[in-house]
Amino acid sequence: MSELQSDALVFFGATGDLAYKKIFPSLQAMVKRGHLDVPVIGVAKAGWNLDQLKARARDSIERHGTFDAAAFGRLSALLRYVDGDYGDPATFQALRKELGAARTPAHYLAIPPALFGAVVEQLAKSGCTDGARVVVEKPFGRDLASAQALNQILLRSFDEEHIFRIDHYLGKRPVHNMVFFRFANAFLESFWNRRFVKSVQITMAESFGVQGRGAFYDQVGTVRDVIQNHLFQLLANLAMEPPARADSESMRDEKVKVLKSIRPIETKNLVRGQFRGYLQEAGVAADSQRETFAALRLEIDSWRWAGVPFYIRAGKCLPVSCTEVTVTLHRAPKIFPACAGAANYLRFRINPEMTIAIGTTVMDPEDRMIGEQMELLASDRPDGAEMDAYERVLGDAMAGDRWLFAREDYVEEAWRIVDPVLKAGTPVYGYEPGTWGPRQVGETVTPPGGWQNPIVTG
Ligand code: BG6
Repeated sequence: MSELQSDALVFFGATGDLAYKKIFPSLQAMVKRGHLDVPVIGVAKAGWNLDQLKARARDSIERHGTFDAAAFGRLSALLRYVDGDYGDPATFQALRKELGAARTPAHYLAIPPALFGAVVEQLAKSGCTDGARVVVEKPFGRDLASAQALNQILLRSFDEEHIFRIDHYLGKRPVHNMVFFRFANAFLESFWNRRFVKSVQITMAESFGVQGRGAFYDQVGTVRDVIQNHLFQLLANLAMEPPARADSESMRDEKVKVLKSIRPIETKNLVRGQFRGYLQEAGVAADSQRETFAALRLEIDSWRWAGVPFYIRAGKCLPVSCTEVTVTLHRAPKIFPACAGAANYLRFRINPEMTIAIGTTVMDPEDRMIGEQMELLASDRPDGAEMDAYERVLGDAMAGDRWLFAREDYVEEAWRIVDPVLKAGTPVYGYEPGTWGPRQVGETVTPPGGWQNPIVTG
C-alpha cells in the first residue's frame, strides 16, 4: 500500500541545538532537491517571532550547511512559527490553526523525552493527531522500563505504523549500503556464516570529547549514547537474514530477530572507560562514574552465527574519528610453508568515507612465496550531492517509509540486551585522551588477533 506524503512538517524544539546544527541545513537540502514544498511549522517556547526563527535558520545553514540563496528563499516562504509552552493548550490551538487544511502532518519531537508525554497529550486534545505521524529523537528511553513507558505514551495517540523513532545512523548512506551490498551480491553468502567467519569487530572512534554536551552525556554514557542504538543497528545489518521482501516491515522483522538471538551482556564481557579530564567538563558530576568508552563482546545464538564472537567498542577522545566494521574469516590452511598470509576479511568503513574492502594475500613482488597483504577495494565516489543522514530520515518519515526507523519491539530488545550490565555498575577505568581506551580492554575484551585500529589518512 502506498503511503500518503505528509502535507505539513511540525517541529518541536525549533530554537534548540539539534534544529540549529542538523535540522535547518537538512530542510534547505530537501527544498533544493525538490523534496519539500509543504508548510514547515517550528514550535518552541522562546518568546520569538517568525522573523527571528528565519534569522536563526539562516545562521544555522551558514554555520552547519551550505547556504543557497534560492533554496533558502523557498524554505523561508514555507516556514511558520508557533511560540508557547508545551503544557499550554493555547499553544496547540495556535498550531491547529497554522496547520490549516493539512490532513497528514508529521510532528517531529526534537525535544527531551521528558516532554514527549505532555506534547503528545496536547496534540491529541487539540485534534492535531488525526491522520498524523510522530517522529521522535533518540535517546528512546534510558532502559527497558522507560522505553516501554515511552512507547505506551506514544501508542495512546498514534498507531505503531505512524511512529517514527529516529536513529540518524540509519540515514547514513554507507549504513544503508551494508544491507544493499550484502543482498545484491551472491558471493558474500558463501562465507557469511559461522563456518567461515572467525570474529566480527565494530569500532566507533571519535577523536573529540563531549563538546559542551557534558550535562546530557553524564546522564547517558557511551553504551546508551551510541552502542544500544547506532552500533546495534550496524550489527543487525551485518547479521540479519535475507528479508522475504524489500518492504520496511520485512526488513525490520529480520533485524528484530537478530536482537532476539542475543543474550544480555555479561559483566565480564564489558569494559568501561573514562577519559582523563572528563570530570572537569561543564555539567559533569565531580565523582561521575559515567563511561566515555566501552568495549563489549556478545554472541548471536542463531543458526548462522552461533559461536562467532562479536566485539563492539566506542569512545570519545580516541586517536581518530572513524567508524569501521571488520569481519575476519578463518585462515586458509598453510600450503606455502613460508607464506605468512593473514586471514581474509571484509571491511566496511562508515566514516569518514565509505569503503568496502576485502583483505587478501597475494604473491609478493620478489616471488619468494611469502605473500603480501592486499585489499580489493570498492570505494564510493562522493560527488558532494549525497543526502545527509537527517535529510534522508526526515524525507523518509514524511513519505511514510519506515525502513530506517526503529520499531517498538526492536528498541525494547536492544534495551533488554544492555540493561542488566548497565545496572550492574561495573568499574570505570581511566584512559588518556588520544589512546584506544583503558588498558583493561586488552586484558579482557579483545578479538582474536587484536583490535584493528582504523587508519585515517587525509
Ligand atoms: C549521536 C551521539 O547520536 O551520534 C553523539 O549523541 C555522537 O555523541 C554522534 O557524536 C555521532 O554521529 P555522527 O553522525 O556525527 O557521526
